[in-house]
Amino acid sequence: MLPTIEWQDDAVVMIDQRKLPGAEIYVRATTAKEVARAIQTMVIRGAPAIGVAAAYGIALGMRKSQASGTTKFAAEFQKVCDLLRATRPTAVNLFWAIERMKRRFAASALAGESVAEIKVRLVAEAQQIHDEDVASCRAMGAHGASLVPDGARILTHCNAGALATAGYGTALGVIRGAIEQHKKVSVLADETRPFLQGARLTAWELTRDGIPTTIITDSMAGWMMQKGEIDLVVVGADRIAANGDVANKIGTYAVAVLAREHGLPFYVAAPASTIDLATPDGAHIPIEERNPREVTHVGATRVAAEGASIRNPAFDVTPSRFVSAIITERGVFRAPYSESLPLAVSGATLNPSA
Ligand code: MRU
Repeated sequence: MLPTIEWQDDAVVMIDQRKLPGAEIYVRATTAKEVARAIQTMVIRGAPAIGVAAAYGIALGMRKSQASGTTKFAAEFQKVCDLLRATRPTAVNLFWAIERMKRRFAASALAGESVAEIKVRLVAEAQQIHDEDVASCRAMGAHGASLVPDGARILTHCNAGALATAGYGTALGVIRGAIEQHKKVSVLADETRPFLQGARLTAWELTRDGIPTTIITDSMAGWMMQKGEIDLVVVGADRIAANGDVANKIGTYAVAVLAREHGLPFYVAAPASTIDLATPDGAHIPIEERNPREVTHVGATRVAAEGASIRNPAFDVTPSRFVSAIITERGVFRAPYSESLPLAVSGATLNPSA
């Protein structure tokens, strides 16, 4: 499996996703600040992977702390958490992972553990978040595979694969799950302007696994649907609100509307850690606006005319009415989402056909 992120000898090692597919380079972060920078600059990206990186970043920051007393150590812990919180605003997995690390810290402090003991606990917690993410993706894959007919031609947007998680992937996990069930499937990967996660990352990891993949530009999806060349859509998510509205990579909403127009299922695959019951609906999800350079340039080359202003919202919100089902590690959840999603979060396991 692809080593997206790993804890190695008091460092966090990440494959540099900015450089793929041209070069397979690994970045070694030795401070929490370097991990934060890696998240901000998209060395590592994708909601679950960002959560795992933040957890490791906290563990790393505290491991390197010189504080000997618990009071100073606790103050540093808070600072490190704040540093990682400020990296990216949309994917809720980041905040979920930080809160989990905080709960671990609080439990250790309550039990009167020493600074040395807490350091060990934090690393172990981050590693557990990592391992659970891989297990969630595999479970999601198995549940979601039952929704994929043999021979399906599947459209996906952005990269919700091994690179976006601790391994295996969410949307791409569903595709891998279908293949493990001996179904023949093929994938259409939207290139995903402006950062090209589809053309660069999804196509790279799928072809590496021998999965038949065709890259299309984002604006081709409607035409392919009209021609009957797509059977279903599966995408990941950065945050799912309590009513089932889904924030995902910019362009997802357009794909969902097109799928509805053409009578195609539109599935979202995401772990329970992506479901944010504290956010009532999509209007309350903060949408990251990124550097205009991502739009004006391809690599080092400027492709846009000078003089025009630029917008670069990195995500959009798909209203829940366009979502056929949400596939999680605990099963397949359907509308009304305000009733089904609390079950996904509380740990109830649903039959995939439910
Ligand atoms: O800006 P990115 O590349 O972090 O955005 C990633 C996405 O939008 C993914 O589709 C989402 O995080 C799901 S990843 C399993």
